[in-house]
Amino acid sequence: MATAARNVTRKLGTFPAFHRVGGRRVLIVGGGGEAAAKIRLLAETSAELVVFAPELEGEARRDLEAAGATLNARFPEAADLADAALVFAATGDLDQDRAVRDLAKAAGIPVNVVDRPDLCDFFTPALVNRAPLSIAISTEGAAPVLARHVRARIEAMFSPRLGDLADLAERLRARVAEKIGSGDARRRFWAHFFTGPTAAKVLAGQVEDGEGEGEAAAAIDRAAAQSGTIGHVSLVGAGPGAEDLLTLRALRLLQEADVIVYDKLVPEAIVAMGRRDALRIYVGKAKGAHAASQDEINAILVREAQDGRRVVRLKSGDPLIFGRAGEEMAALRAAGIPFDIVPGITAAVAAAAENEIPLTLRDVASTLVVATGHDMRGDTLPDWAGLALSGATVAVYMGRSVATKVAARLIENGLSASTPVAVIENASRADRRAYAGRLDELAEIADRPELDGPVVIIVGHVVAESALGVTPLPLVALAA
Ligand SMILES: C[S@@+](CC[C@H](N)C(=O)[O-])C[C@H]1O[C@@H](n2cnc3c(N)ncnc32)[C@H](O)[C@@H]1O
Repeated sequence: MATAARNVTRKLGTFPAFHRVGGRRVLIVGGGGEAAAKIRLLAETSAELVVFAPELEGEARRDLEAAGATLNARFPEAADLADAALVFAATGDLDQDRAVRDLAKAAGIPVNVVDRPDLCDFFTPALVNRAPLSIAISTEGAAPVLARHVRARIEAMFSPRLGDLADLAERLRARVAEKIGSGDARRRFWAHFFTGPTAAKVLAGQVEDGEGEGEAAAAIDRAAAQSGTIGHVSLVGAGPGAEDLLTLRALRLLQEADVIVYDKLVPEAIVAMGRRDALRIYVGKAKGAHAASQDEINAILVREAQDGRRVVRLKSGDPLIFGRAGEEMAALRAAGIPFDIVPGITAAVAAAAENEIPLTLRDVASTLVVATGHDMRGDTLPDWAGLALSGATVAVYMGRSVATKVAARLIENGLSASTPVAVIENASRADRRAYAGRLDELAEIADRPELDGPVVIIVGHVVAESALGVTPLPLVALAA
């Protein structure tokens, strides 16, 4: 398939620059929805907003009050523009907008005329605001909706606290310059700093006032004394498989990681969301064919962090549910490696959501048990079986191969053979499948030859209240 080459002959007709408006007057002329949008945008700056509008619609009035803008219930005159930084013409009437533009031109003040690129001295960007850091996106008026789409992607990439980090860096700048003499060493320090543990804590909102400076001061002193710093490990939940069920924090950490260590159940598409040049280490475990033992995985995490790298340990679902995070945390603690944990959407919750299974339901089930089928391998009935008998909803992970045993033991111990069950494979993925039936049909369902992906089994009366809606309970197969 041929790929169209990028249009390199088109050049920008605008030059992105950041206009100083703090404390200066910015005029907005108009009282409708367009003016309201400009008021909201300019309210993100510390400009002094002055609105000229003979009539003001409700939305614009609310935005004007929220922005603390000054209202003049009339059309502006030449004297009103004196010393203004920028002028926006947003009256909705072309003749009036042209008149505003003429006033601005006569005063030599840059003007933006809403929806009339041909009359504009400058365009307003889609803005990602992490003050003092900002990102402005423009298509030169060609495709404003595309600019907003790009903005949404960028918003998702960066922590809302990125501005706090820029603030902290500004406060530290003099100390860094004083303590770290060479330019190269300073660059290395900042590169480490913005991806290091103090930055991670700032971005996660985990530092109190002044604490960031304290931690950073120590890091500056260390950097002055030596060149390397220790890395950091994030145990990150990748969710059940669908890319858009990844959390924004997981996405951000992935894009900052130097190393991504991932399991079999994490889709390649999610791993690919990481930085292109990140080192990717597959440690997937398949039944009978271990790619890496837990000890080996622990050693990888410790080694990479000790080499000063930011490591993302990506696990399917939530890292704390049957994810062996406990062992990894213990290894990291023992090695003195800083780490954090990012929750993910666990398989049972995703499976329930897409099949409309209310995991708890008034008068039906008030307890949710997350269990593993591995508990069924022994001869004693695991604790959760008792909870199932008393009406709890039970989500059984890794239960497919022991489904026959699960059903038989529960029935032997008094759970009704007609208790509804659901068997959900590949929850949230394109190839998902769901089956519902009775507990005494569980073995038959779980044995179906087409099932070859990860499966979660849900046992409980709530299944009858779901989209799988099964009372009485015929065997139902729902394809994706
Ligand atoms: C080692 S556990 C990991 C669980 C994961 N930490 C979580 O919170 O979902 C693997 C088991 O999770 C379940 N599982 C994971 N992803 C699934 C999916 N997309 N659909 C159904 N079950 C899934 C299956 O029972 C699978 O055998």
